[in-house]
Amino acid sequence: MKRAIYPGSFDPVTYGHIEIIKRASEIFDELIVGVLENRAKTPLFSIDERVNILNEVLTDLDNVTVKSYDGLLVDFTVQENAGVIVRGLRAVTDFDYELQLAQTNRVLHKEIDTVFLATSLRYAYLSSSTVREVASYGGDIEKFVPPLVAEMTYRKFGQRS
Ligand code: PNS
Repeated sequence: MKRAIYPGSFDPVTYGHIEIIKRASEIFDELIVGVLENRAKTPLFSIDERVNILNEVLTDLDNVTVKSYDGLLVDFTVQENAGVIVRGLRAVTDFDYELQLAQTNRVLHKEIDTVFLATSLRYAYLSSSTVREVASYGGDIEKFVPPLVAEMTYRKFGQRS
């Protein structure tokens, strides 16, 4: 049985993330969406909010579970008995960082591999930081995130949806 981890900050989750999650869930028997609780950063959404939002938007995917982690990604991956880390690649600009991350993780734990999925063209421009910025000015984010996420993001910025 192949279990994989799809890690990220998901602050907030976008349609780009959801598309990668759906595709990865068809490739692997089990997929764990790992939500990083990064104490060095102050996210827009708390760790509990991000986990709850992901659970809401992924209810249809039976082989997907959502868990938070703190610390090294490889340690979380080993702890969850997963052998593979999934990452989406939007453009060549992602590549340097992603390759470095994958290689570092492989040095830390040589049995853990990273699999890259190419983001669909229609989401290639999309990032959580773009969503936060557009929402902060009251711009339309309905094409970027599910309605529940849009509503909650607007609320964070005191904007009306
Ligand atoms: O969605 P993001 O924010 O680009 O995800 C980055 C993430 C969460 C996958 C990565 O930063 C992470 O897992 N960090 C935890 C610390 C770690 O393991 N770093 C890699 C070794 S340098």
